Amino acid sequence: MPLTQPQIQHYLTQGFVAPIRAIATAEAAQLRQQVEAAEAAPIAATPYLRNKTHLAFTWADTLIRHPGVLDAVESVLGPDILCWGAGFFIKNAHDPSFVSWHQDSTYWGLDPADIVTAWVAISESDIGNGAMRVVPGTHLLDQIAHRDTFAEDNLLSRGQEIAVDVDDTRAVALELQPGEMSLHHVSLVHGSAPNPSSRRRLGFAIRYLPTYVRQTVATRDSATLVRGVDRFGNFAPEQRPAADLDAAAMAHHGEITGSLNTVLMRGTGLTM
Ligand code: NI
Repeated sequence: MPLTQPQIQHYLTQGFVAPIRAIATAEAAQLRQQVEAAEAAPIAATPYLRNKTHLAFTWADTLIRHPGVLDAVESVLGPDILCWGAGFFIKNAHDPSFVSWHQDSTYWGLDPADIVTAWVAISESDIGNGAMRVVPGTHLLDQIAHRDTFAEDNLLSRGQEIAVDVDDTRAVALELQPGEMSLHHVSLVHGSAPNPSSRRRLGFAIRYLPTYVRQTVATRDSATLVRGVDRFGNFAPEQRPAADLDAAAMAHHGEITGSLNTVLMRGTGLTM
C-alpha cells in the first residue's frame, strides 16, 4: 500500500514513519527461519548477512523487491528506485551490542540526501529488546560531525557517533511487530540500546535511493534497480543470486562489498 498523505507529511516533517505493515506475519516467520538456517550453516554467513545480503540470498533479493515494502518507499522517493544496501541488524538475547547516535549520511558518499531506509522487523523489536530510537526532525539539520570510536559492542562499521550531545529526551522508540517496518531519512539521528531481554531482535535494513542520486567519493559504486527505469546510470547494475550462497553469488558479493568497503572505511586505514 502507498503511504497516506498524513504519513508522507510525517516523513517530510519528522524524518520517519512507523509502523507500516510491509509483509505478512507468516512471511516474517519464514524469513526468520531462513536467516537462522544461514547462521547455522557451515559457510560463515556473517559477511553475507551484514552487507549487500540481496546479492547472496534469493529470499533477501525477493524481500528488497517486495511490493509491501516498495509501495511505501515509492511514496517518498518516486517511481524509479535503486536498492543500494541491505543487511541484518541482529541483537541476540542478553546482547551488549548497541548502535551509537548517528546519521547514516555521514560516510556513504551519496548526494543528494534523498535516501530512505526501510527497516523491516523480522522479530518483534520493542523497547525491551533494543528497538531503534530516532530523534524526530533532525533530518532537517545539516550533516553533524561524527567521531570514530571502534567500540567493541558497537554494530556500526567504524563505531561512529555524533560528536556533540544528543538531546535523547526527545527520542522516540520505533516499536515494530514481525513484518512491520519503519522508514527513516538518511540524515535522521538514530541509534539503539543493548538487548537485556531473553528475546533475539532481528531487523533487515534496506537502503533505497532514487536513480538520480550519485556516489561522490568512489569512482565506482553499484546498486540494484528494483522498480521503474534507470535513466541516469550512476550505479553499476548488480547480479541477482541464482541460488543461496552459490559460487557466483559469493564471488559477486565479495567483489561488490570489497569496493563498498573502501568507501565506508576511507580515512581510517582499516578494512571491515
Ligand atoms: Ni543507521
